[in-house]
Amino acid sequence: MHRFIVMGLGLLVSAMAWAQNAPPANAPVAGVKSANIFQLAPDADSDPKYKQQSNAERGQVQPGNNAPMWHQVGQGVTGYSSLPKSQAPEAGNLIQPFVQYPGSRLTNAGEAWRQVRNQWLIPYGGSLILIALGAVALFYWRKGTMELHGAETGRKIERFTPFERAAHWANAIAFVALAVSGIVMAFGKFFLQPILGNMLFGWLTYALKNIHNFAGPLFAVSLVIVIVTFVRDNLPRAEDITWLLKGGGLLTGQEVPSHRFNAGEKVLFWGGVFLLGLIVVASGLVLDKLVPGLVYERSTMQISHMVHAAATFLMMAMFIGHIYMGTIGMRGAYSAMRDGYVDETWAKEHHELWYQDIQAGKIPAQRSQPAAPAAKPATTA
Ligand code: HEM
Repeated sequence: MHRFIVMGLGLLVSAMAWAQNAPPANAPVAGVKSANIFQLAPDADSDPKYKQQSNAERGQVQPGNNAPMWHQVGQGVTGYSSLPKSQAPEAGNLIQPFVQYPGSRLTNAGEAWRQVRNQWLIPYGGSLILIALGAVALFYWRKGTMELHGAETGRKIERFTPFERAAHWANAIAFVALAVSGIVMAFGKFFLQPILGNMLFGWLTYALKNIHNFAGPLFAVSLVIVIVTFVRDNLPRAEDITWLLKGGGLLTGQEVPSHRFNAGEKVLFWGGVFLLGLIVVASGLVLDKLVPGLVYERSTMQISHMVHAAATFLMMAMFIGHIYMGTIGMRGAYSAMRDGYVDETWAKEHHELWYQDIQAGKIPAQRSQPAAPAAKPATTA
């Protein structure tokens, strides 16, 4: 105890000695000229040209006042940068110039993009997906799985060759990976972050973002193969109009005759796979910075992000219908894409004109080379 009191007194005495020798607080420090900007020309702003002053002019009446420069920065003015434009196209620009993206106010581009994303894409895109899910749930509840009416014959028709199935499933698997990771990136903070907490949600989203970036090019390549593979049988035909006018007979249960693909599938092909698919892929490749020769500025990324998100929400809504029909919505559809074959009764009931062409010998019932029978094991004498 005694030792501590002595130490404390010692410290107090040295502190008092230092305070006596220290220079007064307002004494000038050698080489540094201090100035109180509040005391310098406090009425400088009464000059009518005060607001138009350049930074240099302002510095003369109010040294240290950089407001004109920051005002320009906020307006998106680009300053000088010695970095090459090809490598750092926006090096001289801190805040982007003002724009008005569709749905945003006129403001700097970063804020305008944020408004479009948060006020339009996220709420309306999310609602669209929920509406599509609700619609198929309602349809399933009221109509259930579309069953075959007639008995199966046991005679099979090859609907999809191994090549067609491989192309389809490569594309579908990439699509599901992209859709799940995209949904978590866009909406995860509303439904996952509160459950997982910040740390786990951060890691999950980081992992999914990388999966998204790598699944994208796989989707792009397989999409082109799917388009080329299925385009011929998706070309419009006269009977498609009747199919569309009658809504395919989905509600009446009286299916409208169609060739290999009906008009509903053709709408999905041209609208969902071809048009939206190519828009999503093109904008995605820009976001992945995979388009050679393109100058990647912030506005390039903002515009491609908005296009990507809008097209992708529409595409997901359409594919919710496709996945429903391809799984629980129609008996026999999924196994056709899994194994390649449908029963004659399925072909007759769902694609009557296609079935008639096969019966007439215009289309072979078996298009791919059937798998060779397994070699018999050599018998030993
Ligand atoms: C998990 C996801 C998916 C499932 C379960 C699924 C299931 C199916 C099934 C069962 C068929 C056969 C329909 C019939 O016999 O007429 C089919 C056809 C088809 N699917 Fe998918 N699919 C999926 C995802 C995709 C994706 C992501 C794409 C392309 C972006 C796609 C494009 C097609 C195309 C082009 C056809 C041929 C019919 C047409 O041209 O409309 N599918 N799918």
